[in-house]
Amino acid sequence: MRRAVIESVGHYLPKRVVENSEFEATLDTNDYWIQSRTGIERRHFAAENETTSDMGIKAAQAALENADCKIDDVDAIILATSTADLTFPSAATMVQNGLGMRHGFAFDVQAVCAGFLYALTTANSMIASGQANRILVIGSETFSKLMDWTDRGTCVLFGDGAGAVLISAQEDETSNRGILATTLRSDGRYKDILYVDGGVSLQTTGHLRMEGKEVFRHAVEKLSTTALEAIDQAGLTTDDVDWIVPHQANKRILEGMSKRLRVPMDRVVMTVNNHGNTSAASIPLAMAIAVQDKRIKQGDIVVTGAIGGGLAWGTAVIRW
Ligand code: ACO
Repeated sequence: MRRAVIESVGHYLPKRVVENSEFEATLDTNDYWIQSRTGIERRHFAAENETTSDMGIKAAQAALENADCKIDDVDAIILATSTADLTFPSAATMVQNGLGMRHGFAFDVQAVCAGFLYALTTANSMIASGQANRILVIGSETFSKLMDWTDRGTCVLFGDGAGAVLISAQEDETSNRGILATTLRSDGRYKDILYVDGGVSLQTTGHLRMEGKEVFRHAVEKLSTTALEAIDQAGLTTDDVDWIVPHQANKRILEGMSKRLRVPMDRVVMTVNNHGNTSAASIPLAMAIAVQDKRIKQGDIVVTGAIGGGLAWGTAVIRW
């Protein structure tokens, strides 16, 4: 059976690290509140002239290097982002150009924090159908550029960064590696609990607005439900799961998921403490960190899931 196998991962984090205490000078907040309510200790912010495609290029280069793969051997680039450099062209075509890729195709996917899951699922289908053999799937975001710096309920939560995975078609009956199952969902009734109050039709960039408590409630329930569906679809149980790599929004969401799925926290990859919420970049960033420190190994069962604005959410089960 032809499957999409993860060959390598790579990531990039901007140089500037912002500790919680930095917000204390301008906002009625403190390190204790942020850490105890969210688990976040610090985040990275892109430089003023550093864009989503700049970071995507660096993460993609790292993934290519880690697989010892040349860009000439990649058929397509799918980039998940809600913070593309420009309204158009896509950030993906800018990454294509930056990588010196003169063939194939590249496009963006926008599903906010669930973007990487939507991009991965699209890439998986393209590989299964034979449309492509090797795809770079990237999540890259500059959410710091969408913040209202007077809103303490949102601006302390987000960070910038990029992660990339290189996936390729493999037909290896014995190892049975690859993406085993995916589930995608959205429900537009919830558009008002997490959105940006600007856009082309309003001729402004806008700022992120969120009803945090409501999003939190949906996150734990929906991420756990779709994870169980995907695990079942893969013919597995939660006992088979080696690692959960969830979207990194809030440590308490991760703990809620761990409890519902009965998978202990020491099998949940957590990077929200160092990265904050990097939206579509959070999962490939967390994967890259856990591969780099040798927690995730070839053959492991990895369950990954994310939820974001829309609401849109999804899960993938992968034999690494
Ligand atoms: N510092 C100090 N106090 C604060 C801060 C802050 N940074 N932010 C909010 N507060 C205050 C509030 O004003 C409120 O005060 P009040 O009781 O006097 O009104 C109090 O803290 C409690 O606020 P809540 O919003 O009820 O706090 P909660 O415990 O729900 O935590 C949080 C808020 C962290 C936002 C949480 O709800 C959360 O993480 N939600 C989910 C976010 C998420 O998952 N997003 C994922 C998708 S993101 C995407 O798609 C782009």
